[in-house]
Amino acid sequence: MKRAAPFLEMIGITKTYPGVQALKNVNFRVGKAEIHALVGENGAGKSTLMKILAGAEHMDSGEIKMYGRSVSIDSPHCAQELGIAIIYQEFNLVPQLGAAENIFLGREPKRFGFVDFKKEKRDAEQLLQTLGISLDLDIPVQYLSVAQQQMVEIAKALSVQAKIIAMDEPSATLTQHELKNLFTLIRTLKDQGVSVIYISHRLEEIFEICDRLTVLRDGERIGVKNVDEIDRDGIIEMMVGRQITDEFPKETFPPGPEILRVKGLSRGFVKNVSFSVHRGEIVALTGLVGAGRTEIARMIFGADPPDAGKILLAGKEVRIASPRQAIDHGICLLTEDRKNQGLILGMNIRENITLPTLRDYCRCFFIAGGKERRQALQSMRELRIKAPSGESEVRNLSGGNQQKTILAKWLHAKSALYLFDEPTRGIDVGAKREIYLLMNELLRQDAGILMISSELPEALGMADRVLVMSCGRLVGELTREEATQEKIMDLATGAPHPDRRIT
Ligand SMILES: Nc1ncnc2c1ncn2[C@@H]1O[C@H](COP(=O)(O)OP(=O)(O)OP(=O)(O)O)[C@@H](O)[C@H]1O
Ligand SMILES: [Mg+2]
Repeated sequence: MKRAAPFLEMIGITKTYPGVQALKNVNFRVGKAEIHALVGENGAGKSTLMKILAGAEHMDSGEIKMYGRSVSIDSPHCAQELGIAIIYQEFNLVPQLGAAENIFLGREPKRFGFVDFKKEKRDAEQLLQTLGISLDLDIPVQYLSVAQQQMVEIAKALSVQAKIIAMDEPSATLTQHELKNLFTLIRTLKDQGVSVIYISHRLEEIFEICDRLTVLRDGERIGVKNVDEIDRDGIIEMMVGRQITDEFPKETFPPGPEILRVKGLSRGFVKNVSFSVHRGEIVALTGLVGAGRTEIARMIFGADPPDAGKILLAGKEVRIASPRQAIDHGICLLTEDRKNQGLILGMNIRENITLPTLRDYCRCFFIAGGKERRQALQSMRELRIKAPSGESEVRNLSGGNQQKTILAKWLHAKSALYLFDEPTRGIDVGAKREIYLLMNELLRQDAGILMISSELPEALGMADRVLVMSCGRLVGELTREEATQEKIMDLATGAPHPDRRIT
């Protein structure tokens, strides 16, 4: 492959936060019209490097050049002027505003000095169309699903006519169809001479779409490779510094008694869903984004009341009116939306981890601090949560480490039934394996797991049974032996799917 001329150069970038050196003298070069992957474990420094490029963080030292000339990027506005756009890992939308207003925020089309709302809406619709989706532009984005919010973020970056677009885990919330649209779009951008920096923990995507890759580990640049001169294992080894052989360490346990059965569960567009989960097994719930999987988990957890249907726990019908009642019944839900539902960002790691089980640490109205701290430290070690200490605020953790904190929060709740909604979203390969090992541990302790997953290799690798949903209905069930990627996709897309509206 012909080496692209350096178009963007970040030279000797260093950044220190209290207790963490996030970037150590990092060099990073991207060519014109190049799709360049930035990979590394959780906390390696990927997002920090991109925030510096986008003017959202200041570097301690280093230099940024574009077209060979030194530039200073002191604010997001400077970055925008230079043609740099970023899609943040944790979205940056104004929750109360609609999609169109968010996309053109600060750059609203004007007519006679007033915002031209009609044009704004038309332009937004057009942009979203290039992404192959339609969504309701009139409702505040806070009511959109995570996947829809992601699309709004992408449309916003496209609207500034950027020369460089950094995408920080854009695929984390998307599944096959949305991802295909995104890749088509990235290729179009490349043809137009735009450079794309692509961050993802799903390595197969890197082989599909990227030209080159840069690996970061612990804030240092480990190396740069052409994608065609390295394989998956090679990247993993560069990322984690050791080989990982079995990515899915599945253990099979003899199936125990039934822990959960839902009969005819319905709410909104979710219609008549029936299935069961036994102790000692992982049941994967797969399907496209918007198929209704999260809704099912929320009904079981008492977060949304079903319109019809029954929930049985260990054979007995129960009415679960609130998450509190669900927890009392021994159910725990790990949500996909970590920022809004999973964590209290202003509290530290220890407080977040021990929150659901706080009662265990209470002695005569006092919290047994020592026990609480020990438990938190143990969880941090088990899941390799990277932070200066248990007292670090959760808001300062890298995306993947926030996700691990949510996991840690529930793993010690000693529940009978775990509802995992995209448990490894945004988590690096090494840490994923740790989570799978912990799932084995939960099964050994006789729990049952319902795992919502959009990553088919994960569903195939870890589940005992695979349920497939499409448009609010359960359209198939496959045993571990029967299940293949093709069969799941056929079932997921086979049912009538009239418009590409994602919900
Ligand atoms: N505002 C902050 N205050 C303190 N520490 C921070 C802050 N932002 C980032 N860090 C730390 O800097 C390190 C690098 O974080 P960064 O978010 O860049 O990682 P990442 O490679 O994007 O990881 P992930 O794959 O989990 O998204 C982490 O140890 C993180 O905890
Ligand atoms: Mg990140």
